[in-house]
Amino acid sequence: MKKYLILIVTLLLITGCADKLEEKGFSKDERTYIKENLNDDEINKLLELDYDKNTINILKEDNYNIDNISKYLNYINTYNLEVKDAINYINNDIDYEVVKSMIELEDFNKDKLMDYYNIKKNHSLSDELVLYIVNNNIEYSSDIENYAKEKYFKLDNLKRYLGYNKGNNSYANVIKLVNSNRDKTFYTDSVKTDLSKGYLLIVNKYYSLDKNYVPSNLVHLTSAYTDNGCRLERKTYEQFKMLVDDAKKDGLYIKCRSGYRSYNDQNYIYNSYRNAHGQVWADKYSAKPGYSEHQTGLAIDVMASGINNYGQFSGTKEYAWMVKNAYKYGFILRYLESEENITGYSYESWHFRYVGVDVATKIKNENLTYEEYYEYYVK
Ligand code: DAL
Ligand code: ZN
Repeated sequence: MKKYLILIVTLLLITGCADKLEEKGFSKDERTYIKENLNDDEINKLLELDYDKNTINILKEDNYNIDNISKYLNYINTYNLEVKDAINYINNDIDYEVVKSMIELEDFNKDKLMDYYNIKKNHSLSDELVLYIVNNNIEYSSDIENYAKEKYFKLDNLKRYLGYNKGNNSYANVIKLVNSNRDKTFYTDSVKTDLSKGYLLIVNKYYSLDKNYVPSNLVHLTSAYTDNGCRLERKTYEQFKMLVDDAKKDGLYIKCRSGYRSYNDQNYIYNSYRNAHGQVWADKYSAKPGYSEHQTGLAIDVMASGINNYGQFSGTKEYAWMVKNAYKYGFILRYLESEENITGYSYESWHFRYVGVDVATKIKNENLTYEEYYEYYVK
């Protein structure tokens, strides 16, 4: 009799436990799985929680921790996560809020999650930057944060900023130098320029033109705009005409002294400079053939009435007028004073370049060389 009693009590206990699972809402299959795989302690922990259809999926993973079930469920349901991912976040103590905006990004790599997280939670870097430095195996340093705060910071140049011998340069200055390619060598590290940029193409000591490049719409200027047969690209000429006409209304006389120059013209000029003054001098004042903006038809060397040489131009009223107004017609002063290290040329108060009104306005407002403008906004 006593034996039977013990048997009945045991049965009641087992079915009682099973009943509790059933009461919680677990299905027959779920209950079977649970009873086969969990011990009583673990089952009791489950019973403390509300039923959730994902609980069974968690239990089927091998890296879950029974004490974290409610945290997993919370992540799965709040953030709509896969069971595996939720387990991974919780087990590694990753706050999903910190990484959630990164996950959407194209370059996000699940395998590097821990690395992203550790940087992101400790430093105030953008998601993009965190992905970039981890994906490119760049070690975090406070320099990165300082560079990234600068206005003209370019993510693609980050390694070059970090590799630049900073010396006494400010972060902004390193960015300016590197963006303008000054970590590279004039003429040695040069490529053919991208002609598809149209009016925004760049020609300098890093970007060249083919020997046989001739702008397609070259026009001769009439004698009202040049004394020596300047040619310019058509739109450049139209804008230059308006500029000259408006200056005339203010009693000023501006003419084109040199516009389009062929590769051969430039070859002649450069070699005569070099023969007369040596290469270092020539490189300061003249472009090597294939590297002159004059070959684009978009550059103009201007002259004012009453003077004969370019060196005198900066002392004229015409110069002052140009500095103030040229941008309204789409022209920029190309080789600025105190920017010689960036442009690679000595200051030329007379050399203007057509880039269009909007761009010229922006360049003036932001006080940039065309080197900086091109690399940051055009390339
Ligand atoms: N003087 C300018 C830089 C040129 O030769 O194109
Ligand atoms: Zn010039």
